[in-house]
Amino acid sequence: MCGIVGYIGEKNAVDILIDGLTKLEYRGYDSAGVAVVVDNNIKTERSAGKLINLKNKLEQSPLISNIGIGHTRWATHGKPSDENAHPHCSDHIALVHNGIIENYLELRDELINKGYKFLSETDTEAIAHLLHSLWEDNLEKTVRKAVQRLKGAYALAIISSREEGKILLARKEAPLVIGVGKNENFAASDIPAILHHTREFIFLEDGDIAIMEKDRLEIYDLNFNKVSRSVKTINWNPVMAEKAGYKHFMQKEIYEQPRAITDTIRGKYSLEDGKIYLSELEEMKGDLLSIERIQIVACGTSWHAGLVGKFLIEKFAKIPVEVDIASEYRYREPIVDEKLLFIPISQSGETADTLAALKLAKSKGAKIISICNVIGSSITRESHGTIYTHAGPEIGVASTKAFTTQLATLYMLAIYLSQLKDRLTKEERIKYVKALIKVPEEISSVLDLDHDIEMLAKNFKNYKNFLYLGRNINYPVALEGALKLKEISYIHAEGYPAGEMKHGPIALIDKNMPVLFLAINSPIYEKTLSNIEEVKARDGVVIAVASKSNNGISKKADYTIFVNDTIEETSIFLTTVVTQFFAYHCATLLGLDVDQPRNLAKSVTVE
Ligand code: AGP
Repeated sequence: MCGIVGYIGEKNAVDILIDGLTKLEYRGYDSAGVAVVVDNNIKTERSAGKLINLKNKLEQSPLISNIGIGHTRWATHGKPSDENAHPHCSDHIALVHNGIIENYLELRDELINKGYKFLSETDTEAIAHLLHSLWEDNLEKTVRKAVQRLKGAYALAIISSREEGKILLARKEAPLVIGVGKNENFAASDIPAILHHTREFIFLEDGDIAIMEKDRLEIYDLNFNKVSRSVKTINWNPVMAEKAGYKHFMQKEIYEQPRAITDTIRGKYSLEDGKIYLSELEEMKGDLLSIERIQIVACGTSWHAGLVGKFLIEKFAKIPVEVDIASEYRYREPIVDEKLLFIPISQSGETADTLAALKLAKSKGAKIISICNVIGSSITRESHGTIYTHAGPEIGVASTKAFTTQLATLYMLAIYLSQLKDRLTKEERIKYVKALIKVPEEISSVLDLDHDIEMLAKNFKNYKNFLYLGRNINYPVALEGALKLKEISYIHAEGYPAGEMKHGPIALIDKNMPVLFLAINSPIYEKTLSNIEEVKARDGVVIAVASKSNNGISKKADYTIFVNDTIEETSIFLTTVVTQFFAYHCATLLGLDVDQPRNLAKSVTVE
């Protein structure tokens, strides 16, 4: 997500804004900007790239004012550039925005028809012109009318040269806090930006609209009834604040998964007909209709996502899918033709092996649709189309929310392809879309198991080896769970198809080789139960991740973590979060550096 800072008081606003945005740099961004009111005019300065570029511009032409807003952008609509950087303006109005406006194209068309000229590709600029088009008397009345038109998520900080003494704040499904000062007030998307100015915070709630003056604060709900929000004292130190109170970025990012998936699927489905809408692929629809084969290529966790994608696409769209590790694919003689859809998956969009594999397939005539978390990254620039995950910056080296948003994206793509090929009935689509919409809530139910899984990890943190076993769509989750354990706790772990044990690995089983089974309710659940019995018969220690409806399993396994019953195709989200927590707690109990594990980099941009 992007970073927002606002200030009104008696100090120079730009100093506060730049300082606050600097405190938010750790979150990742690709451009930045500020806007202030000077002599009844809006003045802005924006720059692509790092904050230093903005600071240099401000040194050349300083902006002196007691009121201002600032922003660091993590691109969601439109590439990183000066034009797309916030703040966005419309005459006497300037604003910064976090979130995703689902109906911005509709608003954009409406406003263009009213004569507005758009200078950027962003959804945010539509809000600026909407405010201008609805201007009535004052900012608060105008904002109240405007937000009624917005569909999606927003945290807004808005100023107008017609009302120098106030900043308007509004939030829905994107965080926004007020820092209460003495004869000055602050606003921010995240506490770290303003924590060194004040410890007194007001956390705005969904639907709130706040009028922030230097010595006055008024908060209203969506019906413009005045509401009171308590002032909370935050005693975090700056390091804790960066992690929003979590111990590690990885922990914070595990907890962010419900929101990350909500943002990723937002506006892309219809419950009425169970359809998936991927506007980013609109221009490629003709090409996709002729696709007969799919090749997914990725590395590490993203490769595991690709293996899940195979199950989903073959099940929903009945299109054959091959999945390859990029460093292998790039040196093979792959069979590529114009009937092939090549899907590179990458959180960073900069992984050298995946980029090389993409270029090889592209040179042989394949159509390229990438799945990526970083707008404007190298892999997206080489692709014919990209479906972006909206996980926001992922700072922990061990990938968590990027993985589950990749799964959600592949799930949507599989249904989308089924529509093009007419492979699912409307009733089937509705069933699968309903299950997808429930995923954030299902993940939240697993987040409640955090402490239970920590207690479980206490019993296993000192083992030196582990097997992770799963079947069908949960086999790739077994691989991913094993990778998480390896990369942050340094415990050796192998993921295997559970049915493969009898072909060799079962020789490893004894009391020193614990086995974690993903034993979710499925048509082949009984097979997995048999595998558990085989392990138990050889003194193996078994952890089972099971569905609540199969409570008998706890008589067979030594430890059982029960998760909600879901369809098999969405069980992967629940099993994934359990294995993320298990690896996280083993590593923290061992006192290891969870966010920066030894030998690893967040993005492997070299071979
Ligand atoms: C996963 O936890 C690791 N950080 C690593 O396997 C990662 O998934 C892999 O390097 C691929 O990175 P990418 O998704 O940015 O291409």
